[in-house]
Amino acid sequence: MGKPIKDSIILPADRLRKILGAMANSWGFEIVFLDAGEGKDTRLLAKNTRVIELDSFRHRISLSGPAELMDRMNDAIVKLADIISEQELESISLTEEIVERYEQLSLLFEMSDRLGAARDNQSRMKAILETAIDAVGAAGGCLLMKNSQEHWCWVNREKVESEKLAQLAVETTEQAKNFVEENRHCALLLRVSRGNIIGSLVLGPKSKALYRSGDIKILTTLGAYASLLLESGRLYEDLESLFFSTIKSMIEAVDAKDPSTRGHSERVRRYSHIIGQGLDFDPEELKSLELAALLHDVGKIGLPDIILNNEKEYLSENQWELVRMHPEIGVSILSHVAQLKSILPAIGQHHERFDGQGYPNGIDGENITLFARIIAVADSFDAMTMSRTYRTRFSLDKALKELSQNSGSQFDPQLVNLFIATIKKTEIKLDG
Ligand SMILES: [Fe+2]
Repeated sequence: MGKPIKDSIILPADRLRKILGAMANSWGFEIVFLDAGEGKDTRLLAKNTRVIELDSFRHRISLSGPAELMDRMNDAIVKLADIISEQELESISLTEEIVERYEQLSLLFEMSDRLGAARDNQSRMKAILETAIDAVGAAGGCLLMKNSQEHWCWVNREKVESEKLAQLAVETTEQAKNFVEENRHCALLLRVSRGNIIGSLVLGPKSKALYRSGDIKILTTLGAYASLLLESGRLYEDLESLFFSTIKSMIEAVDAKDPSTRGHSERVRRYSHIIGQGLDFDPEELKSLELAALLHDVGKIGLPDIILNNEKEYLSENQWELVRMHPEIGVSILSHVAQLKSILPAIGQHHERFDGQGYPNGIDGENITLFARIIAVADSFDAMTMSRTYRTRFSLDKALKELSQNSGSQFDPQLVNLFIATIKKTEIKLDG
């Protein structure tokens, strides 16, 4: 691949012979190809013979014919050879462009395949680097990216020269300059919109050849795609981190309102996770369940402190009315966050009972969303195994027995069975 070089073009011999032969015949000349294995010693050629070098095709031909037409024939043959050569160049250039585009497309598909399983920017960087190394046959490489804290990180496949590669990558970004040493390294900047540099890609020596223009084109295409991907990944990770910080702040706010249940949300998350795993939830489902478990009591933020700090036995009916509103208050608070829409039913239903005697709506059985049924088991288990000012905590056995006794009435029996079976196999450490 690379820019076509005129003197490297060799038209198939039979095609050239056919075209030039037909022309010479029509003029009454005999034409002989001297480079195709039937070369005659030019000293033995007939008198009216001209040997013509066709530079474009690295061919020599001899023409024998009428002396008065020899010059014109010579010019015509050379011109024709040039025209054929130009057409051939265009055709080859087009073919090369198509091949090049195809290779770029294949490369991007290959990278997409490798990126399929990548869930964070570190894994994406690894996939991009491996694709780049394979694409040009380099012995190793290094991909550096500024993260949001302005630190550098890198991945590389070959241990050999890794320090040198990392150093080059840092220098490349600091100097904001690409460079290629044909037989050594190739360094490209990773840029995003407005030319902002987000990192660099450095590859070590190629195992079999030098770096050529085709390699650089491929790496530039790959680098452009990778830059966009890594930048959007970074922005997404920043956003996700902000999202979880906000969630954490909300949970801390709940804990601060009701110190007697400090850590409750985190423990309910942990127990819900155990049930979710037992139900073979995929990672996305587990993530949603854990989020719902963490936030299930967020509605308590809206309750007066006097209610939360009072012992439950001494609450008036009016105060109980307010307590029963916390699932709906939670839904109301979280309903403004688009990313939490799918877990709102779990927040709103976590105090519903399997027999329909719960609150706020008295729905029953599988009308209660699965996440809410899971959280109900986890929530009650934690409440029983934690000390309160008005009672000591239950032992593990007593708490599991209590769950069993309320299986089918308060709780989904299948989930209780699953939780008890799993918790007995798990070396669970009860906090508090
Ligand atoms: Fe609750």
